[in-house]
Amino acid sequence: MGGIAVCPGSFDPITYGHLDIIKRGAKVFEQVYVVVLNNSSKNPLFSVEERIRLIEEVTKDIQNVRVDSFQGLLMDYANSVKASAVIRGLRAVSDFEYEMQITSMNRVLNDKVETFFIMTNNQYSFLSSSIVKEVAKYNGDISELVPDTVEKALKEKYQ
Ligand code: PNS
Repeated sequence: MGGIAVCPGSFDPITYGHLDIIKRGAKVFEQVYVVVLNNSSKNPLFSVEERIRLIEEVTKDIQNVRVDSFQGLLMDYANSVKASAVIRGLRAVSDFEYEMQITSMNRVLNDKVETFFIMTNNQYSFLSSSIVKEVAKYNGDISELVPDTVEKALKEKYQ
């Protein structure tokens, strides 16, 4: 398909579920900007710098992926990098209402940017950063859920 896409999220921290969506998006678009944005309903565990470092580490082998952060509206960021698309992962029906709301709002803000949803791989359909943090907090095994570098960072946080 080509073109520039933005893959936005809180990424607090990045999981195998996110990585799957980023890799699949990078096969379709020429350039993918993975951007750490602020979700006003969440209180992040990792700083923006820490989240960027983890994303950079786990995406370093994907040539057409760049990692960035932005304080503000996703649509303003999309404009600044001349993106024509947004990529979001969709796990289950429970994601739908929220995604529809932000996608509709984004379209009001800028109808030139199209949002594309990628269905999460079945093996990650239950996975979220929140669930990973919950398990990590109580010393559970998260090795199947996040890359090693993220697992290490979580262990350090909860030490
Ligand atoms: O990983 P998340 O928390 O589901 O990602 C949500 C995110 C960060 C993409 C969304 O909250 C967002 O786009 N925040 C920036 C502000 C904005 O543009 N909101 C959408 C218009 S209401």
